[in-house]
Amino acid sequence: LDDHVPAPKRTQDRAAEAAAGIRTPSGTPFHNTPDTDPALPANRTWARAILDRVETSDLGRDLVDAHTVRTGEELESVVSGAVAAADGWAALGGAGRAEILERVADELEQRRGELLEVMASEAGKTIDQGDPEVSEAADFARWYAALARELDDVDGAEHVPARLTVVTPPWNFPIAIPTGSTLAALAAGSSVVVKPAPQSARCGSVMVETLWRAGVPKDVLRLAHVDEGDLGRTLIADPRVDRVILTGAYATAELFRSFRQDLPLLAETSGKNAIVVTPSADLDLAAKDVAASAFGHAGQKCSAASLVILVGSVARSRRFRDQLVDAVTSLTVGPPSDPTSQVGPLIEPASGKLLDALTTLAPGESWLVEPQRLDDEGRLWTPGVRTGVRRGSRVHLTEFFGPVLGVMTAETLDEAIDIQNQVDFGLTAGLHSLDSDEIGLWLDRVEAGNLYVNRGITGAIVRRQPFGGWKRSAVGAGTKAGGPDYLIGLGDWRSRPAAA
Ligand code: ALA
Repeated sequence: LDDHVPAPKRTQDRAAEAAAGIRTPSGTPFHNTPDTDPALPANRTWARAILDRVETSDLGRDLVDAHTVRTGEELESVVSGAVAAADGWAALGGAGRAEILERVADELEQRRGELLEVMASEAGKTIDQGDPEVSEAADFARWYAALARELDDVDGAEHVPARLTVVTPPWNFPIAIPTGSTLAALAAGSSVVVKPAPQSARCGSVMVETLWRAGVPKDVLRLAHVDEGDLGRTLIADPRVDRVILTGAYATAELFRSFRQDLPLLAETSGKNAIVVTPSADLDLAAKDVAASAFGHAGQKCSAASLVILVGSVARSRRFRDQLVDAVTSLTVGPPSDPTSQVGPLIEPASGKLLDALTTLAPGESWLVEPQRLDDEGRLWTPGVRTGVRRGSRVHLTEFFGPVLGVMTAETLDEAIDIQNQVDFGLTAGLHSLDSDEIGLWLDRVEAGNLYVNRGITGAIVRRQPFGGWKRSAVGAGTKAGGPDYLIGLGDWRSRPAAA
């Protein structure tokens, strides 16, 4: 796997980045990590070699076995060890920690092939979905390194690191999100216990091992596979835990809070995200962006589009619907080991509200594209598009986390924004419009943390689009991952004694 040829992605233009002011806080240019360019034959050969291993890969299994916590005593040794190591890590200072994080970025890029293998084999990620995760993880490392250097240098204030942070990442971005949360806490000077999601235990383990290999001390960064019953509760409720960084369902944030009322929780939670398409939009582009945002990684993204709201004449004519049907039905569904797959499997067989959304219609609704189950298990589904979705209905308001898109209609842009804002969540939102007055109105009124105009609504990029939600999409947050002030919220501050 060593013949990987990292090539600039087409959109990367270093001079343009610098001219646009893409810089670290100290003013040096910041470059996002390029994705693998599939146009290069050597890269396609490299990707093929990875995919050939996917079906039989068990990468990371030995790490999962070695770091499974089975008893209270084992958990105590993990937690007390991490607490004991905290002071030494903090004493390195921001600059010392930054040097290690910069090595982490290089190590992540060097292990890109293995990371893609474990994401495909365990979490069903196709290469085109997994590759940007590795780039994002490396971006987090370099960006938080830059921010760590700044922590030493705040006028009049001293940053006091948390001693122990617990990171509980999700399975849907099994490399980028755990890496980002872990490195942010490490950069801010805290020890970390990572508890990977059970569905992506091997991915989380390989991630942690990558950080160890780059020089993060093993006692500062602990890997703990803890089941989600009593031991999990004991870990979250432990009073020595200064912060929990959670990415997961809103219900999980509520559960964590029920374990410990004063829990210092930083959580990025659920979404129910809509893209609005107005009559002034480039409809070809809108159809393509809606399909990609709704069905990338089979819709299993908190950022995914799960509603499209058609305004005025777009709602009344067949044209956009026909384009959307064409875009959606042209997606190839299959296992990640097949290089032609664009939509991979669900992490688990569809059940509960997702299965319901894939198989039953509410009054007034019909299928624009009816989903089909392709395997016995119920993990591979062709995308579904429901039309006639009514305001206030289950499809309007509920997150399904799978390959289902609802089509709603509105007479005016104002009404479309009301429909967007009626949901409890506020994570991502999109508008397709070429009218600057419409864009201004929408940006003013829509209630979501991450707003996208005339592009898809997934795939935030570190530093350019810091990521974080609003309303029930965030708990205890306020700063955005990958943004300029993320580390500041991860410790405490006290006034620096005036110089003598
Ligand atoms: N950061 C992820 C995205 O933007 C969730 O899609």
